[in-house]
Amino acid sequence: MYRHERPGVAVADGSPQGEAAEPGELLRTQGLSKTFRSGSERVTPFEGIDLSIRRGEMVAIVGPSGAGKSTLLHLLASLDTPTNGEVYFAGSLLRSLSEPELAEYRNRSVGFVWQRHHLLPDFTAVENVAMPLLVRGEPLGQALQTAREWLGEVGLGAREKHRAGELSGGEQQRVAIARALVNRPALLLADEPTGDLDERSAESIFELMQRLHRSHSLTTIVATHNGSLARRANRVLVLEHGKLSPASGSVAGTAAGTGEPVGKESGNIGERG
Ligand SMILES: Nc1ncnc2c1ncn2[C@@H]1O[C@H](COP(=O)(O)OP(=O)(O)OP(=O)(O)O)[C@@H](O)[C@H]1O
Ligand SMILES: [Mg+2]
Repeated sequence: MYRHERPGVAVADGSPQGEAAEPGELLRTQGLSKTFRSGSERVTPFEGIDLSIRRGEMVAIVGPSGAGKSTLLHLLASLDTPTNGEVYFAGSLLRSLSEPELAEYRNRSVGFVWQRHHLLPDFTAVENVAMPLLVRGEPLGQALQTAREWLGEVGLGAREKHRAGELSGGEQQRVAIARALVNRPALLLADEPTGDLDERSAESIFELMQRLHRSHSLTTIVATHNGSLARRANRVLVLEHGKLSPASGSVAGTAAGTGEPVGKESGNIGERG
């Protein structure tokens, strides 16, 4: 039996696929490994990652360049497939989903914000935000109306008719955040969303993400090199030498938006790597 809590992938409820989900858990990985092969070369950024993310948590992933932060986010978003191990979303095993179901998962359950915004520069801000709705087949007028509301939420209501290429880096990243959330995903993944911004813009983008995280009851995972921004998350995980482990003294202790304890901080994280 399945229920839909939000648009997006079917949420397993008591089905065999649902058995891996703990109460309150949105995302889980088991023994997640990735090996890239190019010619005779092999690169294995991480191996055997066990991770559990509760609904409403904001988790930051830090670690040196090349440690595999982007790779991990891509696996969680089903933009790439693991070499070994599993990803469960709301109890559903991603590997068991059909290609159309995975496309639905990517389009509706997950919002992705990249370091570089990937906006269409010749389209207006509002058209960029409306794009995921149009891909889904929503009528143009309705899509633009929803997109306008989201631009208002990210503080760019006055800029809706500006072409994306005419906006500042920070403004473009706001548009990208609105675009990531316009389908009301449960999960927001952000890969160095402030990496290209100056300190002040980075700060305001991170604050915006925190505000939206709370007001839309999101579950957010953000990879960042910015340690001071990372410390504002509920949990900070360090990806290094193929292992994911809690950053020392990083846990804020409550799940944002819920006020509930985050729970088994370190117990959720695989020791193997
Ligand atoms: N498509 C690919 N083919 C081959 N190797 C890859 C591929 N993608 C990533 N890698 C390798 O996997 C490792 C992890 O890369 P990844 O981009 O995930 O690191 P990262 O932690 O995000 O780094 P950064 O902080 O610089 O963004 C690197 O050694 C990288 O070269
Ligand atoms: Mg990266």
